[in-house]
Amino acid sequence: MKNIGSYPNVRLRRNRKTDWSRRLVRESDLSANDLIWPIFIREGKNIKEPIKTMPGVYRYSLDKIEKLVERAISKKIPMIALFPHTETSKKNLKGSEALNKNNLICKALRLIKKNYKEIGLMCDVALDPYTSHGHDGIIKKNYVDNDETIKILIKQSILQAEMGCDVIAPSDMMDGRIGQIRKALDKNGYQLVQILSYAVKYASNFYGPFRDAVGSKRLLKSDKKNYQMDFSNAKESLREVALDINEGADFVMVKPGLPYLDIIKLVKDNFKIPVFAYQVSGEYSLIKNGINNGLITNEAIYESLISFKRAGASAIVTYFADEIANKLK
Ligand code: PBG
Repeated sequence: MKNIGSYPNVRLRRNRKTDWSRRLVRESDLSANDLIWPIFIREGKNIKEPIKTMPGVYRYSLDKIEKLVERAISKKIPMIALFPHTETSKKNLKGSEALNKNNLICKALRLIKKNYKEIGLMCDVALDPYTSHGHDGIIKKNYVDNDETIKILIKQSILQAEMGCDVIAPSDMMDGRIGQIRKALDKNGYQLVQILSYAVKYASNFYGPFRDAVGSKRLLKSDKKNYQMDFSNAKESLREVALDINEGADFVMVKPGLPYLDIIKLVKDNFKIPVFAYQVSGEYSLIKNGINNGLITNEAIYESLISFKRAGASAIVTYFADEIANKLK
């Protein structure tokens, strides 16, 4: 950097003296337009079930979903992400419930799309909510089989598109699935259904509460290190993103969020594609517990979300979406 001057001519605190001045020079902003709200759904009627490991987050029965969608629309949240809590009795080795036209996700998609067109619906493509072993794909010889899994993911994607899903979000980390899903969607007339690739998804320790929320935690015996990325790696994320762009991804996700701001920036600096961040369940619960215990103030939520914008994210999947949207104009 040249010509930055020096003290005492230069006093960086001058621009920070007043609120109006700070607003004038502000580099990043957060609005409701930046938020994606994940919602957990379950079977039953008139249920709002607390999730122990995620204070303030609930599993809702489907009859509650329209109210939530209306709330999201009124708050100008552009998209919600639906996640199913599947009953254990419906899980099996192949995750076949993923392909059931009347599974929770399909029912929710139909219900929402019938009456609401002005909000985006995003759904994960992966088998973990449906498998009896909690893995994202099917297992052959003790290994999550890449190509056999993709065959199922393609069917899951087409089914979701058929039910009205706007954004197909493969979160499984199989190699080559974006290209195959894109091809299959196009062939079936869904050329305009978008794909949000979880391109850079690390084998993280911060997913615990989510696995609890979708009911896969108890079932998962091992880890996901042979398909999700090693968290010691940064440059590898560029290869993942490059491949997914070539395969037709419309946006890419970096996940988790706060411990991976360097990755968001790295990807943003190297590609022009929109990058989304996922502030995952473990991050949510840590911040929420910190607030509930008086260790940090509520303002920490805003600060954590702005940091994603500062790093270059276009949007953020966050369990704080509903509550923070109230405070944003
Ligand atoms: C499943 C999936 C996971 C999350 C989103 N989709 C968990 C995992 O990969 O085990 C994590 C989200 C969160 O922790 O909030 N493919």
